[in-house]
Amino acid sequence: MIISSPNDYRAAAKRRLPPFLFHYIDGGAYEEYTLKHNVEDLSKIALRQRVLNDMSQLSLETQLFNETLSMPVALSPVGLTGMYARRGEVQAAMAADQKGIPFTMSTVSVCPIEEVAPKINRSMWFQLYVLKDRGFMKNALERAKAAGCSTLVFTVDMPVPGARYRDMHSGMSGKNAAMRRYLQSMTHPQWAWDVGLNGRPHDLGNISTYLGKPTGLEDYIGWLGNNFDPSISWKDLDWIREYWDGPMVIKGILDPEDAKDAVRFGADGIVVSNHGGRQLDGVLSSARALPPIADAVKGEIKILADSGIRNGLDIVRMLALGADICMLGRAFIYALAADGGAGVSNLLELLDKEIRVAMTLTGAKTIADINSDSLVTLDN
Ligand code: GLV
Repeated sequence: MIISSPNDYRAAAKRRLPPFLFHYIDGGAYEEYTLKHNVEDLSKIALRQRVLNDMSQLSLETQLFNETLSMPVALSPVGLTGMYARRGEVQAAMAADQKGIPFTMSTVSVCPIEEVAPKINRSMWFQLYVLKDRGFMKNALERAKAAGCSTLVFTVDMPVPGARYRDMHSGMSGKNAAMRRYLQSMTHPQWAWDVGLNGRPHDLGNISTYLGKPTGLEDYIGWLGNNFDPSISWKDLDWIREYWDGPMVIKGILDPEDAKDAVRFGADGIVVSNHGGRQLDGVLSSARALPPIADAVKGEIKILADSGIRNGLDIVRMLALGADICMLGRAFIYALAADGGAGVSNLLELLDKEIRVAMTLTGAKTIADINSDSLVTLDN
């Protein structure tokens, strides 16, 4: 299959993956309105073309939490990444490392922290949920620190899981799910060979290490589902601070008041995110939520943004709306599923080229030059 744009990877991933995995990554919550609006609202933001400014020297480099990033992008934490390609977390982390950007290890990854960290040169970021099992949280933070993870990405928009109706249709969950997943795997031989057979163990690596026993997809749905903690409040984050002295980013902020609370709490960054439209359907798209948040806290805290970013132009748009860097989830998983680490590397190169063209034609020579002047303000 010919890959010429980041979006081509979605179709390639769809061909290769058993449907339960494709729909798990591709889908969102409830009727998927927010998922759709994330992409559409962003694509409607008009870039402001400027010409004849000698744009021969461009720099995509940026600094964040004392790290140099070769471009303003980090890979988002995605649960079960290792089901999308053989030892997928290792492959994606190596691709990010070669490009010079951070990879974020999910709590619910297939490969444990200890398998990925030694394979890369730069420090990973580590994502944690608030879970009822505080013993697990403490253990995960200690292990992340021991493995040299630099930044903690603390996900706060999952006190309860949003309903993903697609998963019940696809065989990820619901009636006869295990049998349906097995049959789907048999009819996707490339995946069955690469991941099904040679990508084992299909554990939730971080969790089995803690529980001291193998875990699997049923535990993903079961253990995690039972372990989300609806009682979470800002004071729980003080507890986390005792175990984490590095940079801490709060992921899942959509409202300026919550962003101000994150500043008061002393967080180093926030991720403006609706969890890729996977939690509360009907909330604002990230592109619409971001500007008032940036007005409220820009300069006081680092602003990261995700949800709906599918290409390099979207990255420039998010930066122009007020983000310091963007995070990518689905976009890199599609590439990983289609072509492993090589797919992720190629995706990052495609994004790099697209960002360069957008910077050239909006007159931004550095990442810091991308701001509201890079956009045309339209009435509708
Ligand atoms: C987990 O965070 C998910 O969105 O499925």
